[in-house]
Amino acid sequence: MTPELVDSPFLRACRRQPVPHTPVWFMRQAGRSLPEYRAVRGTVPMLTACATPDLIVEITMQPVRRYGVDAAIFFSDIVVPLRAIGIDLDIVPGVGPVVAEPIRDAEGIARLRPIEPGDVSYVTEAVRALTAELGATPLIGFAGAPFTLASYLIEGGPSKNHDHTKAMMYGRPDLWHALMERLTGITVGFLRVQADAGASAVQLFDSWVGAVAPDDYREFVMPYTTRIFEGLADLGIPRIHFGVGTGELLGLLGEAGADVVGVDWRVPLDEAARRVGPGRALQGNLDPATLLAPWEVVEHRAADVLRRGAKAEGHVFNLGHGVLPSTDPDQLARLTDFVHETSAR
Ligand code: CP3
Repeated sequence: MTPELVDSPFLRACRRQPVPHTPVWFMRQAGRSLPEYRAVRGTVPMLTACATPDLIVEITMQPVRRYGVDAAIFFSDIVVPLRAIGIDLDIVPGVGPVVAEPIRDAEGIARLRPIEPGDVSYVTEAVRALTAELGATPLIGFAGAPFTLASYLIEGGPSKNHDHTKAMMYGRPDLWHALMERLTGITVGFLRVQADAGASAVQLFDSWVGAVAPDDYREFVMPYTTRIFEGLADLGIPRIHFGVGTGELLGLLGEAGADVVGVDWRVPLDEAARRVGPGRALQGNLDPATLLAPWEVVEHRAADVLRRGAKAEGHVFNLGHGVLPSTDPDQLARLTDFVHETSAR
C-alpha cells in the first residue's frame, strides 16, 4: 500500500483517526441505478459478468468516476464463491440468487468444499488491475456471511421468513453447525484471496441476520463470525460487518470483532455508537429511499446522519442498505459532494 492509500480518509476513519472530511461510499453503488452499468452489462448474465475481469474492472470504476466516492467496492456477488466451488446456482433478474438443489442434509453439506485461489483467478486478476487503476482510492473486497449464505442455500432462493433455515438451526443443530463450519472456511478463503490481491478493506455482508434473536445469534451465528474476523486479523486491514434489521444485535456485532460496524437506517448513529460500544467505527446510515425524495429532504436528513455520526469514534458515511435501482444518479453525486463539503467545515 502506498502512503497516500494508507492515509486515505476512508482507511483513516475505519482506524478511528482524524479525517479531512467524512469519507463516503454507497452499498450497491455499482449497479442498476447507473445507465453506464446497464450499457456495459447489456445481456451478459450477472454471474458471467462477475467472472469477466474487464467487466468487473469497468463496473467497479464507474461510480468512482461519476461520484468521486472515497472507496470502490469490488463488483461481484455474495454467491460467487459458492458457484466457484461447483454449487449449481444462478442469479435470476428481479429475484436474486436461486439454488438448483437446496442444501438440507449431510450429503448437501458435504458438497461445500474449501475454496482455492485457483477457483477464482478472475477475482485475483480483477483486484490487481483495480488496485493499479484506483491509486490512492481504497478497494473494498467483500463476502456474504455464513448465516446469509446458509439462508440462500437452505431455502433455495430469497426468503421472507427463513423458515427452512431456522428449522435446521433449531431442529438439527448438528447439521447447522456443520454447514456454518464449511461456510466459514469458504468465506475466510474468499476474503483472503481479495486481500492478497490488493483489496485494502473487507466487508462481511450478513444482510439477513436481523431475522435472528440475540440469544440465537450468540449460539448459532456469532462463533463463526468471530472466527472469520480472527482469520483475517493478520492482514492488518479494516474489517467491516454489516446486516439489516440488526438494532437488537448491535452490541453482539461489535463484540464479534469487526473494526467497523455497518448500521441500517433504523437506529440513529449516536444510539448505535452507544449500543456497539467503544473501539469501533460506524458506517451508515441514510435510508436509501430518502434519495427518491426531493434534494432538500436528502440534504436535511444527510446532515442529521453526519451530526449523529460525529458521536462515533470514526464515521464512514453510507446508506442504511443498498442503492435502490430507481435512484437518480444525480442525487448520489450531490450527496457525495454534500458529505464532503459539510464535514470539511
Ligand atoms: O456496488 C456494490 O455494492 C457491489 C456489488 C454487489 C452486488 N451484490 C452486485 C449485484 C454486492 C456488494 C452484492 C452483495 C449481495 N448480493 C448481497 C449483500 C448486500 C445486500 O444488498 O444486502 C446480497 C443479499 C446479494 C444477493 C443478491 N444478488 C440479490 C438480493 C440480488 C438482487 C436481485 C434483483 O435482481 O433484484 C442480486 C443480484 C445483483 N447483485 C445485482 C447486482 C448489481 C443485480 C443483477 C443485475 O444487474 O442484473
